[in-house]
Amino acid sequence: MKKALLSAFGAVALLVLCGNIIGGAKAQSGAAAVTNAAGPKKAEEQFKNIQALKGVPADQVLPAMQFITASLGVECQFCHVEGAFEKDDKKTKQTARKMMEMMFAINKDNFEGHREVTCYSCHRGSATPVGTPLVMAEVPMGMGEAKKVEEANGPEAGKEASGPPADQFLDKYLQAVGGATAVEKVTSRAMKGTITFGDRNIPIDIFSKDPDKRVSFTHTPDGDSVTAFDGHEGWLGIPGHAVREMHGPDIDGASMDADLHFAAHLKEMFTKVEASGMEKIGERDAYLVIGQRDGKTPLRLYFDGQSGLLVRLVRYGETPLGLLPTQIDYADYRDAGGVKIPFRWTLARPGGRFTIQISEVKENVPVDDAKFAKPAAPSGEQKGPAK
Ligand code: HEC
Ligand code: HEC
Repeated sequence: MKKALLSAFGAVALLVLCGNIIGGAKAQSGAAAVTNAAGPKKAEEQFKNIQALKGVPADQVLPAMQFITASLGVECQFCHVEGAFEKDDKKTKQTARKMMEMMFAINKDNFEGHREVTCYSCHRGSATPVGTPLVMAEVPMGMGEAKKVEEANGPEAGKEASGPPADQFLDKYLQAVGGATAVEKVTSRAMKGTITFGDRNIPIDIFSKDPDKRVSFTHTPDGDSVTAFDGHEGWLGIPGHAVREMHGPDIDGASMDADLHFAAHLKEMFTKVEASGMEKIGERDAYLVIGQRDGKTPLRLYFDGQSGLLVRLVRYGETPLGLLPTQIDYADYRDAGGVKIPFRWTLARPGGRFTIQISEVKENVPVDDAKFAKPAAPSGEQKGPAK
């Protein structure tokens, strides 16, 4: 039961859980916060046996591990001894370290240090890459389509822009949701609905408050699971585990999700926007717009060909080994107090996916700031690592 829920939470829970397993004094949030003020902590300062990833920010180590896990289609135990991540007992871990060094060298020697080749380039979701082309399995139908999908698979894809200028899609989207004035009028929102992981449906409450606070309470039978962002920091709470801080890419995503005026803020988020042609999302045509951000990973936005509404957003988490994608599909747009908002969305990452269906929305209701505040860790939760 607990296991099902955790796997359902996918990537987020995985990190939370692993954080707790690794936990101990090293990952105590208090100490981390202090160090953060003085500059980000390095991987080797937080973990015990870092060789290949020396010098990378400590909070990118677990995202990098997720990236490897997704690239090879394996679990953490493929390389790690349970409860002792620092040990090098498994041959696969030793190989993986060599692979990291190989990957860095390939990119350094052939691609001017740009991270063009990653674990996924060769592994494609399997521990042993295939080096031989496949025989033709069936009559090649729509091979052009497949190629298009391939090309679209990455932030750099679709370089040759075509069609109307990209800004126009951002404008149309803002109009489609009700226009800047209507959007700016929303100062808080309370939503009730259901979150679905696989075949489990759990009630959820989501509160947002201007300018950038958001919290969700998933009412599991074990207690509430909480994901919160207060405009500066974010935290995750799962019943029976110590509260965990959100890190880099998750904070970036959380601050976007928390923005009640996202549609109005899009333009100013980007240093450059490019229209990148049309793609099918389900049955419908959508325009792809790629937005570059200063010092951050790009966003891919898909706008419905007819309504102009945002139907898909793909963002990327930075790791030293490659980018971890998060895709959110928005649907069931309805009017809520003068603006159109999606009543359903599906969030998918390499490690899992869930769908939220909203049934009730209230705009501009009072939302107590206390809801976003990080609770003090309950006593008994801090005793140390693995249980
Ligand atoms: C394909 C092999 C592989 C997989 C799968 C993998 N790791 Fe790792 N992990 C490594 C390697 C290699 C290192 C050491 C990196 C270095 O030398 O800088 C490492 C280091 C770590 C460390 C630092 C340990 C320390 O104290 O030095 C942690 C924590 C960790 N991994 C967690 C995870 C988690 C959690 C998962 C599953 C999400 C995972 N790893 C999946 C290969 C792997
Ligand atoms: C240039 C291609 C390439 C890249 C990039 C690459 N690998 Fe590999 N990797 C291979 C090949 C090929 C094998 C299989 C060798 C064999 O079959 O003996 C392999 C094998 C492995 C194995 C051993 C699997 C087993 O079952 O024993 C691990 C672990 C691994 N790679 C991890 C990684 C990680 C982690 C990365 C990214 C840091 C990575 N690889 C990047 C090509 C690559």
